[in-house]
Amino acid sequence: MDNKQMVAEALANVIPSLDLTAIANLLEQPKSSDLGDIAFPAFSLAKVERKAPQMIAADIAEKIDATNFEKVVATGPYVNFFLDKGVISDTVLHQVIAEQDNYGYSNVGQGQNVVIDLSSPNIAKPFSVGHLRSTVIGDALSNIFKKLGYHTVKVNHLGDWGKQFGLLITAYKLWGDKAAVEANPIDELLKLYVHINAEVETNPELDDEARLWFKKLEDGDKEATELWQWFRDESLVEFNRIYDQLGITFDHYHGEAFYNDKMDEGIQILEDKGLLHESKGASIVDLEGYNLPPAMIKKSDGTTLYITRDIATAMFRKRTFDFAKSIYAVGQEQSNHFRQLKAVLKEMGFDWSDDMVHVEFGLVTKNKQKLSTRKGNIILLEPTIAEAVERAKNQIEAKNPDLEQKEAVAQAVGVGAIKFYDLKTDRRNGYDFDLEAMVSFEGETGPYIQYAHARIQSILRKAAFTPNPDAHYQLSDAESWEIIKLLQDFSRIVERAADNYDPSLVAKFAINLAQSFNKYYAHTRILDDSPERESRLALSYATGVVLKEALRLLGVEAPEKM
Ligand code: ARG
Repeated sequence: MDNKQMVAEALANVIPSLDLTAIANLLEQPKSSDLGDIAFPAFSLAKVERKAPQMIAADIAEKIDATNFEKVVATGPYVNFFLDKGVISDTVLHQVIAEQDNYGYSNVGQGQNVVIDLSSPNIAKPFSVGHLRSTVIGDALSNIFKKLGYHTVKVNHLGDWGKQFGLLITAYKLWGDKAAVEANPIDELLKLYVHINAEVETNPELDDEARLWFKKLEDGDKEATELWQWFRDESLVEFNRIYDQLGITFDHYHGEAFYNDKMDEGIQILEDKGLLHESKGASIVDLEGYNLPPAMIKKSDGTTLYITRDIATAMFRKRTFDFAKSIYAVGQEQSNHFRQLKAVLKEMGFDWSDDMVHVEFGLVTKNKQKLSTRKGNIILLEPTIAEAVERAKNQIEAKNPDLEQKEAVAQAVGVGAIKFYDLKTDRRNGYDFDLEAMVSFEGETGPYIQYAHARIQSILRKAAFTPNPDAHYQLSDAESWEIIKLLQDFSRIVERAADNYDPSLVAKFAINLAQSFNKYYAHTRILDDSPERESRLALSYATGVVLKEALRLLGVEAPEKM
């Protein structure tokens, strides 16, 4: 039970005129901790009771059952509660120990579906850091929503359709080399893509040809389809290698192409509702009422667009999963697209479009420069992961050369470092991709937290500690109280992270908890003989459980030894 609840219940017994929720809503945090931990202002009772608030406060303080508190005192019009740190510490530690990795779970979601559109890289292009962000944010959100009792569906909405495939086919037919693509698919396809984009600037006829190829693709032309299928298959082999390394899985790989034969229904509704207008041969939906530019649904040659497929996708997801929320973890640069998408669906009469959330995130830069596939200025993910693992290995080698399973630990630390650095950033902000900072064991990093967790496990092994459900844990120092308060806060943090669709709240919580533990460790000789020894170990144990769980929510492993 949380502290507010405990205070509210004690108050409810002596204030018959207010119910529990009303009391809980009135509770405040006193301006200074000298005045206690939680305060109840008596003003609102003055009218009913026809007494001065000071008198009411004094009256309540006298009548209340204070057994669970250090003390309860009236100060002017407030009833101030001083929490009994001993009682709370004991309760919290026993709760973590009993619930283990279930600690912090709450069933607010009641099994409702949350669809998460994540990762969604574009075929025939390297997996970008932007897609990395989408992947790790989407995956963490899935873990967070599950922790709250939702059922999540992770969909990889592959970018495997669109005019760029017309460009690619054109380029391949002009300059492509089958053997080279087979040997090095994404590299080679990217070269072709960069080449044709440069060429198109001076030779617009190539653009017409590309459009024609895409048209053929949409119409099911054999040659176009075969080439497309080949590019797609080769790309997926590479993407899956990256997902394996990152430890990410999906429930569906329905990409844009999947919707090629499912767009008619949406277009028909738009037509029936008179929402489609002709503009220079193209079909558009006017969105002036939303302060948005018109959405183009069909080009003049009859081909469809990204948004056309997203309309079909949204309808399919609603029908298939009847979602409570449909989340799109996609970069900020697409915010207009998602506004238009929601607006069009709303116009079509789908009120559930209000449940679609664009979870947008900021740009990743490298040396403060913008990244761009088309200009070939990119961070390639595979070699980057390899380098992170290498750096992790070097540090482990220096710190703990005798460690068993060094490779596996280095993998967990290197990959965890990249993920954590991304997730600790407030999602709307971008960050500069700095591998050295990411893999550092100092500072607000994944390895720092993993190290704190491993240190705890090593202390527990030395003490051969096993928690005892009947023990009475007693802690009184300021450093342990900081930890207890954080442990107590965990479920609230998870809920806030879900409300804001922002895993960084969990990441910051993990940083705080690891830092608080390290402070405690610096102050207290945990293993020394003392009547408090069992309690200190229980505190370390509980911290370990919650650190590991917070990391798990972020998709980061917590090795037992480092
Ligand atoms: N493939 C797109 C891109 O890389 C992201 C797709 C996001 N999901 C969606 N349903 N539009 O920009």
